[in-house]
Amino acid sequence: MPLHSTEILAATATGIARAAQLLREGKLVSFPTETVYGLGADARQGEAVAAIYEAKGRPSFNPLIAHVHSAEAAQRYVQWNETAEQLAQAFWPGPLTLVLPLRAGHGISPLVTAGLETLGVRVPAHPAGQALLQALDGPVAAPSANPSGKISPTTAAHVQAGLDGRIAAILDDGACEVGLESTIAGLAGPAPMLLRPGGLAAEEIEAVLGRKLAVRDVHDPLTAPGQLLSHYAPGAPVRLNASAPDEGGLFLGFGPGVCDLNLSESRDLAEAAANLFGHLHRLDSLGKPIAVAPVPDHGLGEAINDRLRRAAAPRD
Ligand code: TXA
Ligand code: MG
Repeated sequence: MPLHSTEILAATATGIARAAQLLREGKLVSFPTETVYGLGADARQGEAVAAIYEAKGRPSFNPLIAHVHSAEAAQRYVQWNETAEQLAQAFWPGPLTLVLPLRAGHGISPLVTAGLETLGVRVPAHPAGQALLQALDGPVAAPSANPSGKISPTTAAHVQAGLDGRIAAILDDGACEVGLESTIAGLAGPAPMLLRPGGLAAEEIEAVLGRKLAVRDVHDPLTAPGQLLSHYAPGAPVRLNASAPDEGGLFLGFGPGVCDLNLSESRDLAEAAANLFGHLHRLDSLGKPIAVAPVPDHGLGEAINDRLRRAAAPRD
């Protein structure tokens, strides 16, 4: 069901200003990068980020990449290091994402990192994408702009075919050159690691670093694909579909009623998604069992319930 009519914006000063304005208002804007078209939301606005999942119909929360206009801008959100500086100098702007520890006061919604303490940052080279990031001068969370399970879009027409009526606007500037998602390098651990092969060859990165990139250990829950989310489970037991807390425990509510924290008093699923990781972290820091009210399993509720089931799953 169309939510609004999607504006097609030309990559002119007017179109870019309009796209930045929509992002500021918490709306979704698809924009070109040199790899694929991204589906962007202001990374500081949790409900805007939740709307990305709604528009894509994605049934689970993955960490998203924050797009910024420069290495200098990236350093507002992550803890920088020498390797990051080396790679940024060599390959930014370009199809390389760096995963680094979040820095204090970063202001990024926990829905962007899916509750992780690290953030993927990238400076795209596409002129229209660049101009948009400069006009906003803020971080834009963006996965590829396709419905979940469909092929990544490399033209505005692809985006329109998949998401027309579900997003506010598409900034149209022709076809993407690379056509393959960015290479992701993890720089938050002891050694630089290739987290996802992509548009920049690993060998090029290795040539600059003068060393091999570590490869992902499939048994390491911090780096294994698809398991990214299960590493953060609250220390305390979590019980789902509860109507009341356990004796001495905490209650995470959904809808009106008494609770310790509420995902959304008005039963708004976008608000609940935006609150999910922050609320879990806060309750977990109190070290008591957590009971969670039922969340309807439609729309964004599917991704919320997926995450809650992981949080409640038995630990090793
Ligand atoms: O080229 C691209 O990278 C495109 C354009 C739009 O920039 N974006 C893209 O986003 O491919 P997406 O959502 O399809 O892929 C993001 C992937 C996640 O699936 C995850 O594997 C990884 O980036 N990622 C993001 N943040 C991470 C983090 N903190 N730690 C580890 N991996 C992370
Ligand atoms: Mg994708």
